[in-house]
Amino acid sequence: MQHLITFDQENKIFNLSNDKITYLLGIEEGNVLAHIYFGKKVSGYHNQFKYPRLDRGFSGNLPGSLDRTYSLDSLPQEYSSQGVGDYRILAAIIRQENGATASRFVYQGHEILAGKPKLAGLPAAYVKDDAEAQTLKIYLFDEVSQVKLELLYTIYANRAVITRSVKAINEGTQNVTLEKLASLQLDMVKPDLEVLSLPGGHVNERNVQREKVGFGIKKFASRRGTTSHQMNNFIALLEPNASEFSGEVYGFDLVYSGNHSMEVQKDPYGQYRLVAGINDENFAWMLEPTQSFQTPEVVMVYSDQGLNQMSQTYHALIHDRIVRSKFKNQERPILVNNWEATYFDFDESKLRPIVDEAKNLGIEMFVLDDGWFGHRNDDNSSLGDWYLNKGKFPDGLKGFADYVHAQGLKFGLWFEPEMISLDSDLYRAHPDYMLKVPGYQPSPARNQFVLDMGRKEVRQNIQQQMEKLLDQGFIDYIKWDMNRHLSDVYSVALAPNQQGEVLHRYVLGLYEMLEELTTKYDNILWEGCSGGGGRFDSGFAYYMPQSWTSDNTDAIARLKIQYGTSMVYPISTMTSHLSAVPNHQTGRITPFNTRGNMAMSAVFGYELNLTHLTDEEKQQVKQQVAFYKEIRPLVQFGTFIRLKSPFEQNDVAWMFVSKDQKEALLFTFNILADAQPEFTYTKLAGLLADAKYQDVESGAVYYGDELMNIGLYQPVVRQDFSSQYYHFKAL
Ligand code: GLA
Repeated sequence: MQHLITFDQENKIFNLSNDKITYLLGIEEGNVLAHIYFGKKVSGYHNQFKYPRLDRGFSGNLPGSLDRTYSLDSLPQEYSSQGVGDYRILAAIIRQENGATASRFVYQGHEILAGKPKLAGLPAAYVKDDAEAQTLKIYLFDEVSQVKLELLYTIYANRAVITRSVKAINEGTQNVTLEKLASLQLDMVKPDLEVLSLPGGHVNERNVQREKVGFGIKKFASRRGTTSHQMNNFIALLEPNASEFSGEVYGFDLVYSGNHSMEVQKDPYGQYRLVAGINDENFAWMLEPTQSFQTPEVVMVYSDQGLNQMSQTYHALIHDRIVRSKFKNQERPILVNNWEATYFDFDESKLRPIVDEAKNLGIEMFVLDDGWFGHRNDDNSSLGDWYLNKGKFPDGLKGFADYVHAQGLKFGLWFEPEMISLDSDLYRAHPDYMLKVPGYQPSPARNQFVLDMGRKEVRQNIQQQMEKLLDQGFIDYIKWDMNRHLSDVYSVALAPNQQGEVLHRYVLGLYEMLEELTTKYDNILWEGCSGGGGRFDSGFAYYMPQSWTSDNTDAIARLKIQYGTSMVYPISTMTSHLSAVPNHQTGRITPFNTRGNMAMSAVFGYELNLTHLTDEEKQQVKQQVAFYKEIRPLVQFGTFIRLKSPFEQNDVAWMFVSKDQKEALLFTFNILADAQPEFTYTKLAGLLADAKYQDVESGAVYYGDELMNIGLYQPVVRQDFSSQYYHFKAL
């Protein structure tokens, strides 16, 4: 077996290497675990890159040492803690019974394992077999608190990926409280770094923001109880010259669906530290003797060819080794969803014609969205009552699903399992199931409240209701939604000194429920959603192979949203629907083909009333559906390449290339038309240089390198929001 991880006994250095990357760490004076290098692969390491020693004023030294040149305040380390004179952002803060929050973690031992262990209760990247990866477990120990840390590093044989996580074990006799326990710390001595993050909001997810790190601390985080639209749980650190196709980039993706934090600091000596993991705000986890705590995992990616290579490494890892669903390699059905078609104003007689039209147009699945349950006819009631709204379906839900199936379509259904309405049977029976702080009236959002998902009996109630429906076997797809964030964070099921655990217990409870449901009902295609893309994270992708990317279906707004989302997540996880104009979120009117090209750049569907389409539009839908069926494997499972960014210019382009590079699909978009336009052209990428490619529509033939080095002129269209596609096949 290939040695991915070695330990140099003499110099006490660990080397994690494959043919793409190398990660080096060592045991320094005082048994401190020090960081040496992370980057492009090296053939070996001769212990020459020693961190220089220097007396830095006001940076203290090791206890009992007279050496003023060695300080934990400057040494690049693997995992820092409070109270040892490291004034940078810290990875661990642990409170003891006497109130002390200091700990001095030193190297205690290590193990090198084949494969990759599972993380108890948490989603994480997995391996197919033990030959695929190796894992280094390093034990750090603090003698006073008797807390042991297990630092886990897994390197895959064939990917530019290292995953990291930490487990804390209380080996002492007193209770300790974890006030902060990061999944990862990475110290880097680099001349200059920039940081790329994905901030946004509802209907405006994952904008690409790039900035200089600069002195001080930057924190990219969520305090909303979930990943959030507002700040995705991913950042990249980049060398200033890095672009889409060149330069060094380091990506960090936290595999978690709760509060997260990515802190980046440029320290007084111009060095960088990244600390990532569960957000320590409103977090405190009590560990009794012998108990342990597992942090979520961070997937680190290194690229020396810019952002596209980083994204492609993430896309492959998330698709191959995070998503587990048996649908992951299956082409996803083209669906029509009734949300923007009808909102709450529907009954079976109104939906049947949409189903009929869907059949006529070649669409493969009908999804019944919000409003089918309880007495929900608007968004003020019934969350928690997962049984039929009888007025809307006289023959029952199964009767309607049977009708859909009889038309040859699959049937999908919407749920929002984590929520409760005041006007619900669930609330009337169990008012204590909701998260609320004693003495305070809980804050509504969309007039709904959040269930205490950390409690087993709460989860069971909802799960049993869902299973009653799922067991009838007529549901092919489920959209799992969540339409507000957590406030009023308090659980009646936990002791006063455990209230800092509520948010993480919520996530663990949710994961347990998802694990049970998606395992038991693995024939169902599960789609994640949270008011659009509010929980677009790889933790959720572990359970659900696809997610609704945004509640914003406007083609032009979606250019940015899908471009930003593609930084981390593979196209097969992203769903996108063609909707009506004027668009319901922006009021914008865009051409039908542009809406199609945008939505066909992901897992495709429609979200409008098909019966309202003109005959000409129906013809276009038929063509789109037929075309998408042809290109579906290429889009869903090909290599996605970003060419021109909507964050930088008026014309946008991206493409898909098949794994054998013999087929490619280019989409171009021109946002605003100009009376006196500058000519622009698009250079393709990812093709075989000397292969000949034919444009399927025009018949024109090009060498791969003609398309990549010379490119194609963008046609001048005298209309805003125009778009083209080019489908190439190698001759
Ligand atoms: C969220 C989803 C939408 C729709 C509505 C229903 O906003 O993102 O697609 O399902 O809820 O209430």
